[in-house]
Amino acid sequence: MTNPKTSVSFVLVSMTIWFVMFLLCPSQLRAQLGTTPNIKHIVVGRCYSYMTLVNPSLRYDCEEIWRQFEEAVVRQSSCNVTVEDYHHMFQVIPQTWVCDRFLFWSKTRTLMHSYAAVVPHFWTLEDTLVGYMFNDLIWCGQKEDLGRYYGDNHSFDFSSCPEWSTCRNHPVYSLWRQASQNFAETACGNITVLLNGSIDNAFNKKSMFGSVELDYLNPKRVNYVNIKVVTNLEGPFIESCRQGSIVDLIQILQSRGFRWTCTDNDQTLMILQCIQKPEHSSCQTFANSLLHRKITLN
Ligand SMILES: *[C@@H]1O[C@H](CO)[C@@H](O)[C@H](O)[C@H]1NC(C)=O
Ligand SMILES: *[C@@H]1O[C@H](CO)[C@@H](O)[C@H](O)[C@H]1NC(C)=O
Ligand SMILES: *[C@@H]1O[C@H](CO)[C@@H](O)[C@H](O)[C@H]1NC(C)=O
Ligand SMILES: *[C@@H]1O[C@H](CO)[C@@H](O)[C@H](O)[C@H]1NC(C)=O
Repeated sequence: MTNPKTSVSFVLVSMTIWFVMFLLCPSQLRAQLGTTPNIKHIVVGRCYSYMTLVNPSLRYDCEEIWRQFEEAVVRQSSCNVTVEDYHHMFQVIPQTWVCDRFLFWSKTRTLMHSYAAVVPHFWTLEDTLVGYMFNDLIWCGQKEDLGRYYGDNHSFDFSSCPEWSTCRNHPVYSLWRQASQNFAETACGNITVLLNGSIDNAFNKKSMFGSVELDYLNPKRVNYVNIKVVTNLEGPFIESCRQGSIVDLIQILQSRGFRWTCTDNDQTLMILQCIQKPEHSSCQTFANSLLHRKITLN
């Protein structure tokens, strides 16, 4: 038997909880747009982790990298951090690379991660020290603090940061822009470009690849640009090697003296997509064709 008084107070309590959650939620959302909490510990920790576990042959001064980063971000207003402001930071990060492994991508992030995980030695921006340290983080300085800099706790704005689109020189954008430029400049041997054929403008001239990386690739260092166009299993099938903006990309590459190849239905990429959606009809057809090929080979 339920006591009516208990259920009334239960209802009141739950309503209060809902109301409080309702009040808290928007502020939590806003807070997410501020500098990532514990950013210093995350960045310095990732730097040590990279140096110790990911790439143990290298030595970096993680504390110095942090100091230069902080200096670049907190000295400026939150919409006015240029790529030049990060130059000192990049100077204390020596570059390393291995040819034939560079992987560039645009609008294919999820698939790119599984691709890089199964194909040995692919090297993406997130595998460089800078990419590893700052991946998925947000940061900006506090306007009010201009000219009176008191140390760690006063330097970053943890409550809100401007959107990328509202600033000409967003602190996050400027860092990624410089990192992407460095990454492209060092690219050598065969490089792979993974593009999304399920959207218009798979090759988008405003993307990091289209606006920065492509311009800094050096035809004397790069042997082949191997483009792979990948669509969602269920479509839409909008762009391909012969259709849409990818044709423009190929023209640009050709005019700059690059050798290139372009593949529409890369088998490895298809298998990776099918692992996630094995029941999809195109995966059934694909599996049958693989099976058939194996039988005929035998
Ligand atoms: C942006 O920064 C530059 C130098 O870093 C400075 O000269 C300029 O006044 C700043 N602009 C704004 C709007 O803060
Ligand atoms: C292509 O882009 C769309 C929209 O951003 C995304 O939902 C989809 O997962 C992407 N497809 C691939 C294969 O990366
Ligand atoms: C903020 O930083 C100052 C100087 O570094 C320090 O004395 C103070 O305790 C810090 N405050 C908080 C709340 O961490
Ligand atoms: C580079 O790409 C070309 C064209 O796809 C290929 O023939 C060649 O074997 C590749 N070389 C290496 C080292 O992967």
